Amino acid sequence: MFKKVERVVCVGAGYVGGPTCAMIAHKCPGITVTVVDMNAAKIDEWNSDKLPIFEHGLDEIVFAARGKNLFFSSDIPKAIREADLIFISVNTPTKTYGRGKGMAPDLKYVESVARTIAQYAGGPKIVVEKSTVPVKAAESIGCILRDAQKNCPELKFQVLSNPEFLAEGTAMRDLANPDRVLIGGESSPEGALAVEALVTVYENWVPRERIITTNTWSSELSKLVANAFLAQRISSINAISAVCEATGADVSEVAHAVGCDTRIGNKFLKASVGFGGSCFQKDVLSLVYLCESLNLQKVADYWHGVIEINDWQRRRFADKIIAELFNTVTDKKIAVFGFAFKKDTGDTRESSAIHVSKHLMEEHARLAIYDPKVPKSQVLYELGLQTSPADVEKLVTVYNDPYEAAKDAHAIVVLTEWDEFTTFDFSRIHASMRHPAAIFDGRLILDQKALREIGFRTFAIGSAPDQAYNLFGTSGY
Ligand code: UDX
Ligand code: ADP
Repeated sequence: MFKKVERVVCVGAGYVGGPTCAMIAHKCPGITVTVVDMNAAKIDEWNSDKLPIFEHGLDEIVFAARGKNLFFSSDIPKAIREADLIFISVNTPTKTYGRGKGMAPDLKYVESVARTIAQYAGGPKIVVEKSTVPVKAAESIGCILRDAQKNCPELKFQVLSNPEFLAEGTAMRDLANPDRVLIGGESSPEGALAVEALVTVYENWVPRERIITTNTWSSELSKLVANAFLAQRISSINAISAVCEATGADVSEVAHAVGCDTRIGNKFLKASVGFGGSCFQKDVLSLVYLCESLNLQKVADYWHGVIEINDWQRRRFADKIIAELFNTVTDKKIAVFGFAFKKDTGDTRESSAIHVSKHLMEEHARLAIYDPKVPKSQVLYELGLQTSPADVEKLVTVYNDPYEAAKDAHAIVVLTEWDEFTTFDFSRIHASMRHPAAIFDGRLILDQKALREIGFRTFAIGSAPDQAYNLFGTSGY
């Protein structure tokens, strides 16, 4: 029924669809890959010299394959008609309205793609959910597609779940060398054939033993659970960071000691100002919503705690800044180093920097924001959504130069772990600041001792103030 996959189409040219398809084109010269999007301006960017997404190694792969076996197009009907296999890779943001508001993922984009596929397919297609969706979303897609089949017998569809586990900033590395590829499908003979067709695509570069095949619902749920477990680790170590600050323990030392146990492992134990990104919060909330829908309130409450600790950590950090700046930041210039949700990406979705900035703006601090990759327009847009355009206009300035951002500031607040921050000349920065000058390290990347020797007052998440310097009081919490 399904022929060998020669033409792949991806609907959605975002952070997942773009890099994933670039890698498929790169690793499978025999497959033609077309990425489509309803946003024509984004497609133009993918066809230009400046791609809409920054990922190490992405430009090289796109520039080498584009026009050969990798295409970016706005002609969605044509691409769908010609495809053997279609990835759905559109956004599934948390709903901002109606039932499930603030919890459930919004599936309107996924559904609209399913309807477009039903309309233009014209023949057999394997449809693959790449977007992270709630359990049983494949069933809704299947239902829409099966309905189209009723009037058009030559249409045949199989819906697979193939969640993407790439992390931004390391997307190309994760795609080239994934821990696992997960493919879920129907347990019918047609389902098995479709699964095998997708396995064959990945086998071009992923060893077979790393390609896991499961039923559809296990695959959909595994993606939510993987992100929930990762987010939970960060909330766990962040909860402990507060205990460290109050007791004199050091969270990095605790994380190291705990992570040396091979049963626990040493990854994802870095305390921080809280996790951000488009996935963790959305997927944990989606899991919570699922559990509530299933009347599993205890389970829902358990996972909701992960989000509560994350919000608390952001608030706690902002409160610490205010407390240590003598309980007022009104009209004080505060330099914010880093606005992206993590280093090596220009993505700001759900960045903790947005939330900490908002808390400081509520206290009328004047923010001087520097990030090596996030454009000014994006910083202003994100903060405008959280506060008001008038407050942003009055309180926020975005700088291209960190030294200018820090000049005359009362404090520096590190919110993203960009490597370049560790290379700055902090003696020069200290000399240009208002005194006493403070640094709040929300990412544990700076050498606190060296900064204190320069004359900074310092605070880092998860460690008590150094009594030898006796610079901070115990106020704040
Ligand atoms: C995450 C998952 O890692 C990935 O598998 C999934 O496909 C999408 O969601 P991503 O959001 O891109 O990827 O980045 P990730 O590296 O997981 O970081 C998420 C957030 O957690 C960032 O804000 C990061 O700074 C923070 N983090 C991560 C910590 O605070 N401490 C850590 O130890 C690790
Ligand atoms: P992700 O991080 O999941 O990749 P993004 O928001 O970066 O999410 O990208 C999703 C892309 O999907 C956007 O570029 C958006 O324009 C596109 N998209 C959403 N709905 C549709 C649709 N019905 N048809 C085509 N493209 C769509």
